[in-house]
Amino acid sequence: MNRQVLLRNAVTAVPVEADFEVVDAPMPQAGAGQVLIRTLLLSLDPYMGSAIKSRHMSAGVKPGDLMPGEALGVVTESRHPDFAEGDIVTSRAGWQAYSVADAPTPLLTGMAAALSPAATKLAPDGRVPLSAYLGVLGMPGLTAYGGTVDLLSPRPGETLVVSAATGPVGSTVGQIARNMGARVVGIAGSDEKCAYAVDRLGFAACVNYKNAAWPDALADACPDGVDCYFDNVGGGILQGVMGRLAMHARIVLCGAMEQYNSPTVLPGPNLGPIVGKRATIKGLVVYDFWDRMPHWRRIATDWIASGRLTFKEDRVEGLDAAPALFARLMSGRNFGKALVAVAPDQA
Ligand SMILES: NC(=O)c1ccc[n+]([C@@H]2O[C@H](COP(=O)([O-])OP(=O)(O)OC[C@H]3O[C@@H](n4cnc5c(N)ncnc54)[C@H](OP(=O)(O)O)[C@@H]3O)[C@@H](O)[C@H]2O)c1
Repeated sequence: MNRQVLLRNAVTAVPVEADFEVVDAPMPQAGAGQVLIRTLLLSLDPYMGSAIKSRHMSAGVKPGDLMPGEALGVVTESRHPDFAEGDIVTSRAGWQAYSVADAPTPLLTGMAAALSPAATKLAPDGRVPLSAYLGVLGMPGLTAYGGTVDLLSPRPGETLVVSAATGPVGSTVGQIARNMGARVVGIAGSDEKCAYAVDRLGFAACVNYKNAAWPDALADACPDGVDCYFDNVGGGILQGVMGRLAMHARIVLCGAMEQYNSPTVLPGPNLGPIVGKRATIKGLVVYDFWDRMPHWRRIATDWIASGRLTFKEDRVEGLDAAPALFARLMSGRNFGKALVAVAPDQA
């Protein structure tokens, strides 16, 4: 039998474990040109919180639907000449133990390739664990790479601020910017996360926004203002950072954690400082960078191996534990890339 996690009911607030249902289902069958995949690792990502409210570009999830998501797995049966039993692949398998996928269509690029129902064969580099291909070497890492290198382009000596600073996106943003010579200041939701950002990620400072005086702490940490802001949260944190912009600041809007759990879209910040500081705001969609994944993986793998890039995982074992970890992720209580080891004996 297959095992799946379905959305049980409509969700209007922070998702809780009871919003999901774990069921047995018939084993999927690989058709001609397809492969059967056993999931080893499942990635849990904040966009799924928007998807279950039908507010995300990748998917809308209705009660009774299989939860969507990226997974890393092993091919257990191949009916396509390019794949063999034992190949390690990534695919949009969803929250289930077994899935079928097509072979990639070469003409698809960018968002169409990212969201296609195809399996991508990996050539794992032995210097990094397999799980990295769902985090720092996967969609979150590519988001950080595209947003930092292409959209913000921090120059040596500039101050770059990043929120959700210890997550897979934020921690990678900060380390790329640090490796480019910028001075990096994180914003995170606990003293423990801030200590990690400074001690392990090499950030110059990190501000805990759960302290009421955090805007003053940000001002102290950024005496010359904020040249680049990578925004993963929106709302009050975006507003606070805008109060510290330097002249000609650049802002990338990547995520809006503060509003994902809200039943309605929250009122936005005052954009006045964008005008006063001649700042630039850019929107980021990771799928625009999809074709550069191999390039990013080469750079990041070398950095991981030489100690210039590190990452942290928040991991649970077994598909049945996925709903509880997702509830933790969406309420900000995760610390590191949220991952489910669906087959813990193998990955
Ligand atoms: N634009 C794109 O193409 C793209 C692609 C990938 C990801 N993203 C976005 O990037 C952001 C980071 O993703 P990630 O995978 O690296 O996630 P993550 O950092 O592992 O988890 C999200 C973090 O957001 C923080 N947070 C701040 N305010 C929150 C609130 N009100 N409720 C819940 N959490 C809150 C929490 O950290 P603290 O405790 O430190 O605040 C939480 O751990 C997300 O907004 C995601 O949607 C965008």
